[in-house]
Amino acid sequence: MTVAFEEDMATVDQEFFRRVARIPHHGLGLSVDVYTPDLFDLLDALAEGGAGGRGLDCDYLEIFKAALPALADVRRRLPNTLLEYHAEGLWITQPDLETRYPFEAELAAAAAHLRTLGSHWMNHECAAKQMAGYSFGTYLPPLFTRASAAVTARHIGLVQHRFDGESRSPGRYGPLFLLELPPLTYFGFGDVSVADFFRFVTEATPCGLVLDLGHLWTVYRYSDAWRDRDLREFLSDFLEAFPLERVVQIHVAGLAGHESGEMAGLAATGSRGPFWIDAHGAPIPDVLFDMLELVLAHPRLRHLKGIALEVDNKSVPLIVQEFRRLREQWAWWKGVDEQGQQDEWASNAQAGRPAPLVGTDGVPCEGTDGLLEQYDRYARIVTGGAADAVPSLGMVPGALEIYRHTYFPHEILHWGGELRDMFPETCRQLDRGGVALTAFVHYWVREPRPSQTPYDFFLLKLERFVEFVREVLPTAIPTAEREAAELRGAYQAACAPVTSEA
Ligand SMILES: [Fe+2]
Repeated sequence: MTVAFEEDMATVDQEFFRRVARIPHHGLGLSVDVYTPDLFDLLDALAEGGAGGRGLDCDYLEIFKAALPALADVRRRLPNTLLEYHAEGLWITQPDLETRYPFEAELAAAAAHLRTLGSHWMNHECAAKQMAGYSFGTYLPPLFTRASAAVTARHIGLVQHRFDGESRSPGRYGPLFLLELPPLTYFGFGDVSVADFFRFVTEATPCGLVLDLGHLWTVYRYSDAWRDRDLREFLSDFLEAFPLERVVQIHVAGLAGHESGEMAGLAATGSRGPFWIDAHGAPIPDVLFDMLELVLAHPRLRHLKGIALEVDNKSVPLIVQEFRRLREQWAWWKGVDEQGQQDEWASNAQAGRPAPLVGTDGVPCEGTDGLLEQYDRYARIVTGGAADAVPSLGMVPGALEIYRHTYFPHEILHWGGELRDMFPETCRQLDRGGVALTAFVHYWVREPRPSQTPYDFFLLKLERFVEFVREVLPTAIPTAEREAAELRGAYQAACAPVTSEA
């Protein structure tokens, strides 16, 4: 389908301005998970203020995707809090979004979650955890190319169109799609810069953006910028090229070295800083607060509504301490006075239907076939099944090898559930049968597989491991199936809504 904006680029901007003008100032908030840490324990700790004394006000929350009843419980217990939504599973960067993945089911779930929370925006990473039939535990950035930007923009248009269609607000504006700058985990592929990629997307669709400063740090570290510029120079160049006027929210989260600690292959290039990756549980390094200072001073940052620390998987005392710092250091930040802009765009802000976002002619988007092939190669390169054959953004020497041989196997064996803890008896039987667990990593990426159910890495791991055992040690199947059933039951119970005494 061709992206069929009826007007030109300036109209795309105007459409964004109309949409963003409807979003109130949000202030300083937190991007959280319902369960890790428990959201209500966290809010109690903030109210008490921790070791720092006085209680801390959190202006808004951005809630990561969770089961609908759990989100409904949060809405019910926090009737007066601005609640925004951090989605997952809408793989808008993937050219086969509508055919390979359960797009309709994910879209319906996202719409229901947004309605339940009463959100003004839905944030989604510009990244995917599934690609060309291969599944991953953490995000893979898009191919940074023009064709890939066009496909991403078109998919954002489809999602926004659906949200608008369901909206009962005047003018039928649904929650705004915010596209988040993704992290680079040691590598990035493509032939345009990350900043230009986002410019191409925003020229084609009126979405907002989330600028994640930890992710931006990884863009510096794992693109060619690290070769000849220090961080401050990189940041200045990046902000010039990036569509900052579309940024609606800033995220600040932790960075850390990979938990496997096996970074020997990268030691030779350490002069530009450590080999950190995105790590929400880790402390926020000072460098990200320095970056926040510089970004907030930029004159093109005109539509910023909120600044959030992204704190899922972090200890409650550390969250309280870091949020206190944010509140104290940026108490002056009240957002921009948007009245001027609202006057400026008043002539465009009359009620009525939003401008059409997508065409319905069913013509394949130009370049999709080639992109499918490139994403297939991308997935096989990073899982070790193909040699390098797509342009990189200027790779740190040895970094892709680290991803392939350390990060990815670690993800399959340890991330989102330690296999030996999940299947203790089955693993003992595999040990006795002489089957190494590393064989499971090879099994995982042996061939592309269909993705018929909404993405859930834990459930995927359960299903895939039982299949693996069936192939390598059929006598262990009853044990594997029993352990998988127990895990599934415990997982469903843990995902039940938080019960409230309030
Ligand atoms: Fe983020």
